[in-house]
Amino acid sequence: MIPGPVEVYEETLEAIAEPVRAHYGPEWARTYWEVVGLAKQVFRTQNDLFIWPSSGIGMIDATFGSMLYTGETLLVIANGSFAGIFQRVAQGYGLKVETVEFPWGQPADPEVVRACLREHPEVRLVAVVGNESSTGVVNPVKELAAVAHEFDLPLFVDGVSAISGVDMPVDEYGIDVCITTSNKGLEAPPGLGLISISPRAWEIIERKKADRYHGYYFNLSMWRETAYDPHWHDYQPYVVTMPTNNVMALRASVRRILQETLPVHFARLRWARDAVRAGLRNLGFILLAPEECASPTVTAVLTPEGLSADELLAYMREERGLALGAGLREMAGKGFRVGTMGKGATEEYLTDFLLGVEAFLRAKGVAVAEGASLVGLKTPAKAQ
Ligand SMILES: Cc1ncc(COP(=O)(O)O)c(C=O)c1O
Repeated sequence: MIPGPVEVYEETLEAIAEPVRAHYGPEWARTYWEVVGLAKQVFRTQNDLFIWPSSGIGMIDATFGSMLYTGETLLVIANGSFAGIFQRVAQGYGLKVETVEFPWGQPADPEVVRACLREHPEVRLVAVVGNESSTGVVNPVKELAAVAHEFDLPLFVDGVSAISGVDMPVDEYGIDVCITTSNKGLEAPPGLGLISISPRAWEIIERKKADRYHGYYFNLSMWRETAYDPHWHDYQPYVVTMPTNNVMALRASVRRILQETLPVHFARLRWARDAVRAGLRNLGFILLAPEECASPTVTAVLTPEGLSADELLAYMREERGLALGAGLREMAGKGFRVGTMGKGATEEYLTDFLLGVEAFLRAKGVAVAEGASLVGLKTPAKAQ
């Protein structure tokens, strides 16, 4: 139950084990576009969407490299470890970075972002992590998009642990560029990056392109040109070799999610989150994120005084065969992270996890009533 890559369902594994297909040809192109269409339903967008052989960071690279010139300024909204990636990618492109910081465990405040943008008219793009995987905090993306748009700026959202877990409709929220990977909320193996691009973002990308190309593989204009070139569209709508087995696995997984229906899927993840939170709270653990912004996909937990997070992680791994995420940076050694995506959001996995934590506490001499951690599992999931 690490916060990705997640444990995937059997039909997804079966799909990745199919014979290898060529990444071109009319039949394959139809499959590719079908999966793009399915992914758009999960993103809830009419924007262009590409599936890329890449990790999540590759999609950040593609965005910054295609939307900003060297020397231009990016505003990073930071309230956890993953916002730090923006700064490192920006450095690689020689961008200037302005950062507006919020405490770990708290959501970004759109008012503070507005004040920062007033002070920094040089900003050309605003970037935020939709769901901070280090703290388990969901940021107010809709409000942040509205603030960015007040200044006629595009909003980039790293939706790596948000898409298909957090109820974050891309078009309704006004997200200009949204990225994710196959191996978190989309519940498929690692290997694919997904990116959606709004007309506002395209307008900027195309303006930059007139002056020069920025790279090749991670160049959004290049991907757009190939995808919509009449020669390539129905044959090979991208410039590289696509990992076809990963795309087949993604198709199986996204079909499964859409079959469950998004409202029911989101409700089940919220139910899993609430079961983790109620159970751990009952055992004396402290939850980093407040209730109102608590992530349905990742819960960051602080271990109570006298208990070692590292020992707990080792016990769970060695004695119970269950992997959890370690605390990152500020949280290193102080806590751990639980992912509730894929099989991690099923009653079976949640029960194993919670009873495992109980057993660890008993092994450490803490008196815990049998089943005290299962309080939250009894409440049924409710679609909103
Ligand atoms: C919010 C967020 N952004 C970016 C990344 C990095 O993604 P990748 O390792 O696929 O490049 C992660 C990985 O956990 C993440 O959780």
